[in-house]
This record gives sequence, structure tokens and C-alpha cells, in this order.
Amino acid sequence: MTQEGFFGLVGHQLRSDLASAPATARRWLSEGGRAERCLNIAELRALARRRIPRAVFDYVDGAAGDELTKARNEADLRGIAVIPRMLAGLTEVDLSTTVLGQRIEVPLLGAPTGTTGLVHHEGEVGIARAVHSAGGVYVLSSSGSRGIGELAQLCPGPRWFQLYVARDHDLARQLVELASEHGYSALVVTVDVQRSGRRERDLRNGFTVPPRVTARSLAQGLRQPRWSFNFVRRPRILSEAALTAARTEAQAVSLVERINRQFDPALSWNDIAWLQEQWSGPILIKGLLRVDDARQAARMGLAGVIVSNHGGRQLDQAPSSISALPGIVDAVGSELEVYMDGGIRRGVDVVKALALGARACLLGRALVYGLGAGGEAGARHAMSLMVDELRLAMTLAGCGSVRELDRSWLRMTPEAERSAAWSTS
Ligand SMILES: Cc1cc2nc3c(=O)[nH]c(=O)nc-3n(C[C@H](O)[C@H](O)[C@H](O)COP(=O)(O)O)c2cc1C
Repeated sequence: MTQEGFFGLVGHQLRSDLASAPATARRWLSEGGRAERCLNIAELRALARRRIPRAVFDYVDGAAGDELTKARNEADLRGIAVIPRMLAGLTEVDLSTTVLGQRIEVPLLGAPTGTTGLVHHEGEVGIARAVHSAGGVYVLSSSGSRGIGELAQLCPGPRWFQLYVARDHDLARQLVELASEHGYSALVVTVDVQRSGRRERDLRNGFTVPPRVTARSLAQGLRQPRWSFNFVRRPRILSEAALTAARTEAQAVSLVERINRQFDPALSWNDIAWLQEQWSGPILIKGLLRVDDARQAARMGLAGVIVSNHGGRQLDQAPSSISALPGIVDAVGSELEVYMDGGIRRGVDVVKALALGARACLLGRALVYGLGAGGEAGARHAMSLMVDELRLAMTLAGCGSVRELDRSWLRMTPEAERSAAWSTS
């Protein structure tokens, strides 16, 4: 290149940078723009940590006890290798699949998360829109910040409703009726919250729902003026249903107390049979890790099970979800649909879960970190990172469709194999 040509090129670049400077500055300074520059979920998590009060971040990020199960969820996924196939002649990669007979564009669901409005005022609506725009299903929590009807109206895409069966069965019946009225197509019954897990970060932070105004919470709020401004202007903490279920008014009680007032440790398969009489659509059970439990779900004619340990937030030292998955798929995979959540932070993690027989994965913290980092724009970015990474992993693995994934694509490390063998018994 001549000197003249070189300076011409530099001049051209400078002119175009200057022309786009206002838009670039807006992107840099806007809430969503900073989130959109994150390269992966770990960076979104780090940004969320800087943007929301410490106690709220810990509520999302934390888990029970020593947080071993949460760590295992991630470590066991990483303990599995994907063996790529070469010269596969792929012209495109198809990420679509079906869930309960409904076609979805990506094998991803937004996991139910409670009190999501604390993280960002857009809360469940921001996450549901992100999931819908990528072509997945959103599962609304019965402990959410948005009501059943409100979410349905604002987010008309595919929706399932997650139910905690409260002590008061009448309330469960009312919620189920509302969900059916508002077009939620499946009922997800979470069964692993007999009582609240001991989440020590929340205890240490004195975390209450709604947040109690103390010198410490005020100091944390002052450090996060944008979050505090939105929180005060548009407080979105618990939906009416969630408040009623906890038999509390809007007063601040610790999360443990709220959960323990609401949930029934005596919940049994009889309650599931009762729910089958209340809800005519498909029912899935969320929170199973044992083969015998999954067999019971199949015997009762349920539509699916979600292999999950609640992201390590309930029984610490329970096995990782990914290690429990293959045994459950082998036992009941031909009778009902098996889903999995826990520890999914990369698109390639989804490849592994699907290759072990999951029909789709639920994303919990990955999307909530995105929301905390940049509201709905951050959640959308988290979702598109997951989808792009999944598509790239499928391409590099030489697999043209998520429905073709099977165990031939995987190799377990000896540790992962040992832990899977244990959990199949
Ligand atoms: C902040 C937060 C709130 C949650 N709330 C609920 C809930 O209301 N109902 C439920 O069934 N699971 C709830 N979960 C569990 C998730 O649905 C899911 O099982 C878990 O987050 C998956 O693990 P991951 O976060 O590692 O993806 C919650 C998880 C988090 C992180």
C-alpha cells in the first residue's frame, strides 16, 4: 500500500468513527449498552454485581449451606467433554425442537425465579420478553413479582406456570384456575421446597422481602442510585398471589420465614393426584433427582420431569443435576419428557444436557444476571449469548440438529462418570 493510500484509509476510518460517535456514546452510557458489551454470562454476572445492591446480588447468586451443590452443578457439566465430528457437511444447524408437542426455536426455557423485580424493575417481564424473542418458553414463578394475568398480557409468547403448592390448597386451586384462564399451557409443580434451604448469604445480609430500610440497606442503596431510583419509583417485589400465599401483608419478613409460612413440608404424591383433578393440561414435576421418584411421576401419567436441585439453593450436597440426568432418562425417557436445569452458563453446556437426553434446559441465574446487568436489554443479551454459543458449539461439533444429539458426542471424565453411576441407583 502506498503512503497516500494508507492515509486515505485512516482518514476514512476516522470520518466514519466520528459519524457514529453519538450513537456509540449513547450505547456506552446506556444501561443496556454496557450489558451488551459483555462477552459471556460470567461478565454479565460481574456487571450485575456492580449494579445491584449486595444483598440482592447475593440472593440471586447464593445457594444453600457451603454452596457445594451449586458448585457441583457447574463443575460436573465442565467435567464432560464434547467429541466433535469432522467433515460432517453441515449446511445449517437446526436448534428447534418440540416441548409437550409445541415447536420452539431454541431448546431453552426461562426458569421460574421468585421476586425477580428486586433485581430490576422490569423483572419477569424483561426475562420473558428475552426468552420469547429467542423462541423459547417462559415459566412464571408463583412467587414472582408479576401476576399471572399481568405477565400474560405483557408477554403473550409461550408460557408455563410454576406452582408452589401452598398449605392452603384453596389458593393453589385459584392460581391454577387463573393460569388456565390466561393461557399458560403447562403446570410445573416445584417439589423441592418443603422448607427453605439455609442460604447463609441471605442470613448474613439480613435479607428480607421486601427489603427492610436499615442503615445498611440505605448505604447499599446510595451506592446504587440507578437501582434505588427505579426501586422507589416502580417497586415490583411480590405479586398479589405471592403475598397471599405467604399469608403476609407487605411487611418485611426474612425470606426463610416467608417460605416456611407458605410451604407445606407434608406435600406428597397425593397432592399431585389432587392437582391432576384441578388442571386438565400437562403437569411437570420440578426438583427430582432420583430414579424412583421419576418412575412414580411416569406411573401417575405426568407429562414431564425437570431434573433439578433448585440451583443448589435447597439441599446442599445433593448431586448435580447433570449427574442425575442420564439415570432418569434411561428409566423414564420413553414415557415422559425429561428437562434439566442447574449450572448452565455456556451454550455448550446445553449440548451436553441434550446429548444426555434432556429435551430442553431451563436457564436460571444466567438470565437473572443479564437482567441485573442491564434490565430487559441485558436479559436479551444473555439469551442471545446462550443461543449463539449453542449454535457455534453445534457447528464445531458437527451436529446439524439438537434432536440428533446423543451420548456418542460425549466423553465423561472419570469423576463425572463415577458421580453419574452413583445417582442412577
Ligand atoms: C433468584 C432465584 C429465584 C428462584 N426462584 C424459584 C421459584 O420461585 N420457583 C422455582 O421453582 N425455582 C426457583 N428457582 C430455581 C430455578 O428455577 C432453577 O431451578 C435454578 O436457578 C437453576 O439453576 P441455575 O441458576 O444454575 O441455572 C430460583 C432460582 C434463583 C436463582
